[in-house]
Amino acid sequence: MNKVKLAIVGCGFISDIHEKVFSELKDKIEVVGTCDVELEKARKMADFLGAEHAVTDYKDLFPHADAFLVALPHFLHYPVGMDIINAGKHCLMEKPLALTEEECLTMTHAADEKGVKLMIGYIMRFHPMITELKRIIDEKVYGNFYQMSIWTEQYTWLPEGHWLAMAKPSGGGQFYTHGCHYVDLLLWLMGKPIKGAHMGTRLCTEWVELEGTSNAIFEFEDGRLAYHFGTWGTKGTRHSYAMHIMFEDGMVECCLNEGKMWLHQTKDLSNYSEVSDEAQLIFTCEETSHLPKYEIDYFADCVLNDVRPMCDGNGALQGNRVIWRMYEAEKRNIVADLSGLGLDDEWDKKGLDKLPPTQGFVKP
Ligand SMILES: NC(=O)c1ccc[n+]([C@@H]2O[C@H](COP(=O)([O-])OP(=O)(O)OC[C@H]3O[C@@H](n4cnc5c(N)ncnc54)[C@H](O)[C@@H]3O)[C@@H](O)[C@H]2O)c1
Repeated sequence: MNKVKLAIVGCGFISDIHEKVFSELKDKIEVVGTCDVELEKARKMADFLGAEHAVTDYKDLFPHADAFLVALPHFLHYPVGMDIINAGKHCLMEKPLALTEEECLTMTHAADEKGVKLMIGYIMRFHPMITELKRIIDEKVYGNFYQMSIWTEQYTWLPEGHWLAMAKPSGGGQFYTHGCHYVDLLLWLMGKPIKGAHMGTRLCTEWVELEGTSNAIFEFEDGRLAYHFGTWGTKGTRHSYAMHIMFEDGMVECCLNEGKMWLHQTKDLSNYSEVSDEAQLIFTCEETSHLPKYEIDYFADCVLNDVRPMCDGNGALQGNRVIWRMYEAEKRNIVADLSGLGLDDEWDKKGLDKLPPTQGFVKP
């Protein structure tokens, strides 16, 4: 196989973001078909991407595709994912993997038994700035860090009855449906959490059944701390999407939307009253609408090189378990015990080194 024959299931909101990038992936991916219960959406996307088939039943694409990109409402991830896996097809599943522990485990085991790749679309791991941040952390460029804080400040509104606004079909509130990206990042960048607490509110996001604003704090086993704030209710923002990482030798600020990473270092630490902080631009990358390119490109590499993806079912389930345990503790007014969540589990890393590094960043 020198190109992945890919079918896309679900041509809603996210497809506008996805479709922009396929022209840049033509050497690895041929989009052979699209599917949506609303045929005109599938047709529009098929026309745009030059795909031969546009259908309303994804099973009609089984004869044509090796792999499927699933971008459906969350309650459909499990039944559709299982059909795809049982048909022996690789699956790039939009986040979150599924709605329950049992669904996630069943899908992960089925993919292993069938020998197909199951990757979850944790797109932020492929942000060039996150790739650079991982390098800074792993190489201890500014020493160790003791705190990582993440903000995602958005204004979102959905009509009454939309699946994403309701707890059952979406699986949760802002923390589960959007925060899952950042919980995944925290586990990837920081290792094993031991404690956590979550508080959410519906104030100013009354259209959503559970929280539209989420605050979460975490303690990791080496004593490091993390904080995540996500809101769908902001009417103005300074942070937008940002991360602050407190290193021994300075603070790294990632302005994720702007594609700029700054290093803040206080020149004279002996003079507490005069904190002279000269920000230094240490990294820039192209605009973030290209993010799916890196993620889908990586998935294609995993399929073509027969490599287990890093965002696999085990990893995704571990992130879900963190959120589920924190939701449960919130209801009971206690701090969540996040130890023993299966985060020690080994997965098969064989062949990961065959993959090319993530592309697309520029050092200033
Ligand atoms: N990575 C990101 O940043 C990001 C951003 C947005 C959405 N997402 C994810 O993408 C997925 C889809 O979200 P969305 O916002 O595009 O949702 P959406 O509601 O806009 O689109 C879902 C589409 O699926 C279609 N559909 C419903 N049932 C179907 C079926 N049985 N067969 C075929 N098509 C069917 C609908 O007609 C609709 O067009 C979710 O998992 C969501 O979490 C990810």
